[in-house]
Amino acid sequence: MNYFPSNYFRYIDGKLHCEKVNLQELAEEFGTPLFVYSKNFFIDKYKELDEAFKSINHRIYYASKANFNLSVIKIFHELGSGIDVNSAGEFYRALKAGVKPQDMLLAGVGKTDEEIILGLKNGIKVIKAESLEEVYVINSIAAELDVMAPVAIRINPDVDAKTHPYISTGLAENKFGIDTIYAYDMFIECSKLSNINLTGIDMHIGSQITTIEPFVEAVIKMAELYKKIKSGGVPLKHFDVGGGIGVLYNNETAFTPTELAEKLIPIFMQLDAEIIFEPGRFLTANGGVLLTDVLYTKTNSLGKNFVVVDSAMTELLRPSLYKSYHHVQPLEQIDNIDFNTDIVGPVCETGDYIAKEREITMVGRGDKLAIMSAGAYGMVMASNYNGRRRPAEILVDGSEYKIIRSRETFEHLIFDEV
Ligand code: LLP
Repeated sequence: MNYFPSNYFRYIDGKLHCEKVNLQELAEEFGTPLFVYSKNFFIDKYKELDEAFKSINHRIYYASKANFNLSVIKIFHELGSGIDVNSAGEFYRALKAGVKPQDMLLAGVGKTDEEIILGLKNGIKVIKAESLEEVYVINSIAAELDVMAPVAIRINPDVDAKTHPYISTGLAENKFGIDTIYAYDMFIECSKLSNINLTGIDMHIGSQITTIEPFVEAVIKMAELYKKIKSGGVPLKHFDVGGGIGVLYNNETAFTPTELAEKLIPIFMQLDAEIIFEPGRFLTANGGVLLTDVLYTKTNSLGKNFVVVDSAMTELLRPSLYKSYHHVQPLEQIDNIDFNTDIVGPVCETGDYIAKEREITMVGRGDKLAIMSAGAYGMVMASNYNGRRRPAEILVDGSEYKIIRSRETFEHLIFDEV
């Protein structure tokens, strides 16, 4: 049995802790399934990325879709981060977390008129448009509101991010952004619109990118375009590289922000632009765990083992959707042999699993487990399928902890129904 290496989640006297808090005690106090986050992980990761680029004019806009709990958004905002929002709902969350619209970017391949109006009326920093038609729509809404709309255009640099196809976004075949070959003409065309103020270019080539080359390739392409557009007379101010920095779930080799900075800063230096980053996963994934309880174990006639736990695809969709690996380990180190098992949830789908054919210490009913790296794209993708109530979330800070979202009740399940 190997244990997930982390300074923020480690065993102290055989008991898994988040910072200085014993996770078994948290599971007993609040019940399971339970998300637990390390505040100091979030802070340290933010500082690591920010520091790596400190020699250039840059700003981080935390991609709140990764973990949109109000307290989490607030932590990053208090560190100086702006917030990237992908819908009116995320805009509302950021606002409630105390973020001013001037510190938000509005993203999304299919923004509704309601979302554009919300952004423009509230003075959002930038709307990132993804088609020519969208820019025309923003222009006419801005004219009606009698405002100038700050717009960046998302370019699809046609670069293979070498990640899972569902989270790869920068290939020509993907739905996102504008093809590079149309980009220059589109900027010139849109710069003539009466109520559009073109502020920058934008890209996001995918998520969980673990090799540095796709970033460098895309940034080089985009930098050429940026320079060409500026010399064509459009006074762009910012260059947005999106999110996507990969993290370690298992045995991946990822690159560090310092390594990324070494490659990208020389390119950025030629641009005279504010550089924008939109990380989500990098800042949060390994700062969270999902605690779960073993309900039953069984072995079928083929000799296959199943550990049935009280967490499912309704709490952590990533294994079911992308076959993602999440490390699983017991909250209390158990002196037992390892066995090979599927770890599955209670939902009525064969695709509902947490881990497949995994070697773990033999566990039994009542043992509690931590599903690691659940701080990003965990709770935000949780659902009420099968009438399940979404779990609580706890934020740990040193030896202190607080509940930052309570477990849903039965009333939550029906409160807006007749
Ligand atoms: N900016 C834009 C425009 C994005 O679409 C995304 C993620 C980000 C920033 C943040 O990307 P990150 O730094 O977190 O990689 N549910 C999937 C991930 C989908 C990511 C969607 N867009 C998963 O669980 O792996």
